[in-house]
Amino acid sequence: MDPIRNPYAPGAGTPPPELAGRGELLETVRIALARIRAMRPTKSILMVGLRGVGKTVLLEKMRQEAEVVGLHTIRMEAPEGRSLPAMLAPQLRVALLRLSRVRRASDRARRALRALTGFARALKVRYDDIEVGFDHEPEPGLADNGDLEMDLQVLFETAGAAAREAGTALCLFIDELQYVVEDQLAALITALHRMAQIEMPIVLIGAGLPQLRGQMGRAKSYAERLFDFPEVGALDPGAARIAIAKPAADQGVEFHEDALARIIGETRGYPYFLQEWGKHTWDVAGGSPITISDVEAASIQAVAALDESFFRVRLDRLAPAEKRYLRAMAELGPGPYRSGEIAESMGRPVTSFGPLRSQLIAKGVIWSPGYGDTAFTVPMFDQFLKRIMPGDEWRS
Ligand SMILES: Nc1ncnc2c1ncn2[C@@H]1O[C@H](COP(=O)(O)OP(=O)(O)O)[C@@H](O)[C@H]1O
Ligand SMILES: [Mg+2]
Repeated sequence: MDPIRNPYAPGAGTPPPELAGRGELLETVRIALARIRAMRPTKSILMVGLRGVGKTVLLEKMRQEAEVVGLHTIRMEAPEGRSLPAMLAPQLRVALLRLSRVRRASDRARRALRALTGFARALKVRYDDIEVGFDHEPEPGLADNGDLEMDLQVLFETAGAAAREAGTALCLFIDELQYVVEDQLAALITALHRMAQIEMPIVLIGAGLPQLRGQMGRAKSYAERLFDFPEVGALDPGAARIAIAKPAADQGVEFHEDALARIIGETRGYPYFLQEWGKHTWDVAGGSPITISDVEAASIQAVAALDESFFRVRLDRLAPAEKRYLRAMAELGPGPYRSGEIAESMGRPVTSFGPLRSQLIAKGVIWSPGYGDTAFTVPMFDQFLKRIMPGDEWRS
């Protein structure tokens, strides 16, 4: 059918034509945002889930809703290998400049901008990737100790005071939080904890891979009580059906029952895969209704497209030894895997893989669902690895 009218939207962070199956989670966050708006104590929320389940899309949707109810938001994505203060400082500056235009908050906002100058200058020594414009001279002693944990608290306090004076709250939306290293995560948790204690309106709505929950707990033992960690996963069959059928129906296109069932079976309800299958099925189909043979023809292309984008980007940054380890995991099935079992299949002691495994976790490719367990962070990654490294040659 006409590709120009194709409604499906595979792609990292690309909003889907129908955001299916997330009503409950969105409602929870709506309530949290309304509580923040009403200056009531509210837990920060961190969504955790595998790649491609729709975390980024949800985060952006929540941010838009937060803006609509009058909250000030800033949105960041933790990049691998950059520091938290480097990511935070420029965004916070924008938010503070915005707050400084609210007349009754302008004094407080200016003070927060002075704190930001002190913060950035003092921390530049340790985090030389900080780059931020300075709008006001620093105030000696204000957020300028050069200690992230202490200075971040003071910075948040001054920013929170500005937000409160403006009758609003500041919501930090941070994606890919698993890339923030432990001591910086600890500083963030401490600062947010402090804001809750002194009733300053700053909260975090974040998203990350499943390892985030454990990372937070290791950074600060009380973190698991301080935050809610809703899990975002595959869509249930009912929601997956809506994700596929509704955007087509909106354009007068129907699916045969068995065609829908096949798409849900092939994708197992994973949002990224649903979009990819929807897109290729639409392109292949001659017209409405879409049949199971359309889906079968499209499957080959959907898999090829996923291999070249969604899966491939995870692999490109890995060293040969890391790829071999992942391929050995895939050989054992979809997982999760016991670390001992993987090592054994490679004929080496489990301890010899310790550093490699940690590195793969840091790179966000695998995670540990329990002690000594390993699982992929990308759904159906085992099948992809077998497709691109077939046979036994990878062993050598
Ligand atoms: N609830 C949903 N229903 C249908 N498609 C969705 C849903 N959530 C996300 N998607 C689609 O899934 C893909 C991945 O979304 P993204 O937010 O990038 O996932 P993540 O951040 O978890 O890796 C996008 O193409 C998006 O359009
Ligand atoms: Mg994402």
